Amino acid sequence: MSSPDLKPLHQQVIVITGASSGIGLVTARMAARAGAGVLLVSRNEDALRRIAEELQADGARVDYVAADVSRREDHERIVRAAIDRFGGFDSWVNNASVGTAGELDKVTLEDHRRVFEVNYWGVVYGSLEAAKHLRRRGGAIINIGSVLGERTVVLQGPYCATKHAVRAFTTGLRMELEREGAPVSITHIKPSSIDTPFPEHARNYLRTGIQVPPPIYSPTLVAKAILFACQTPRRVLTVGFGGKMATLMGRLFPRFTDRLMEAVGYWAQETQKPGVPARRDNLYSPREDGTERSSLGYPVVLKNSPYLQAQMYPVATAAILSGLALGLAAASRARR
Ligand SMILES: NC(=O)c1ccc[n+]([C@@H]2O[C@H](COP(=O)([O-])OP(=O)(O)OC[C@H]3O[C@@H](n4cnc5c(N)ncnc54)[C@H](OP(=O)(O)O)[C@@H]3O)[C@@H](O)[C@H]2O)c1
Repeated sequence: MSSPDLKPLHQQVIVITGASSGIGLVTARMAARAGAGVLLVSRNEDALRRIAEELQADGARVDYVAADVSRREDHERIVRAAIDRFGGFDSWVNNASVGTAGELDKVTLEDHRRVFEVNYWGVVYGSLEAAKHLRRRGGAIINIGSVLGERTVVLQGPYCATKHAVRAFTTGLRMELEREGAPVSITHIKPSSIDTPFPEHARNYLRTGIQVPPPIYSPTLVAKAILFACQTPRRVLTVGFGGKMATLMGRLFPRFTDRLMEAVGYWAQETQKPGVPARRDNLYSPREDGTERSSLGYPVVLKNSPYLQAQMYPVATAAILSGLALGLAAASRARR
């Protein structure tokens, strides 16, 4: 099958799960401002209403559905809402997710299973429901995984396992739709550590607060990758070279990486900052939403990812690098 033909953003309707916070919220705002119709999805109806009203006041085409992605029937409701309110959709972003902070023998099996219900089954239900619709209409399914879907870290075992599963499922779905000739682009996006309320939302079994380890990137970069994938077929996009380094190291030196994570994994993820109490623990029901960033005040948040840029625009990157290499070669010849 040739590459699916995807529409420009302003002609699209995009369904975004987990749109009440962090990456989903930044993506929704950017998509709406670019002229896309956006259907916001999460469990927190009050937050969604506020966000929709804010965007509608700016003239954006935005609506919302309160839904729990761990429930299969809620996905059918999301599709119906997209059809009723926008006449259908062109891109579907499976972004909603939850996490726990604690050792595997401390996290209850019920909580472990719940992380799977949301992060893995939510993506499965969403992808299959979206594919039914997009097989006829054409479009993009974008699944938000993580660099932790390639390399597990301490204290986040259940979350890492779900992201490994999301990677496997997304690869399987891509191959099967491609073989069938369906005009659907399937992109797996793997963010590194991102400055969002995610750690504050986690169910925390530790005595300390929890944070994501550095280097930490802006959620705007992930939103850019998502909206790029809505318009341009790409297999995988990794946001931030920091996470890529960790996965490469894990692949090349697995035992050394185990030892390193054992040595620094607690230190890098534990914090004395408690975060906003009203945000704590959204595993089974929503907590405070409506913010893009964490309250933990990370000292450095990277606003650029040349590595992401290179994946989105490989030809331009190769041309720039070749130009630089030729320039350097010419300069060193002139000096001799
Ligand atoms: N932040 C990072 O460092 C990082 C790194 C790699 C990957 N990611 C991935 O990026 C994506 C977005 O995370 P984020 O950092 O933006 O986290 P976030 O700020 O905590 O946002 C999570 C969103 O998911 C929604 N959600 C949670 N459970 C849900 C459910 N059962 N049904 C529907 N919606 C649900 C939440 O809203 P409600 O509570 O209102 O439902 C919220 O809108 C996730 O897939 C995450 O795994 C994040």
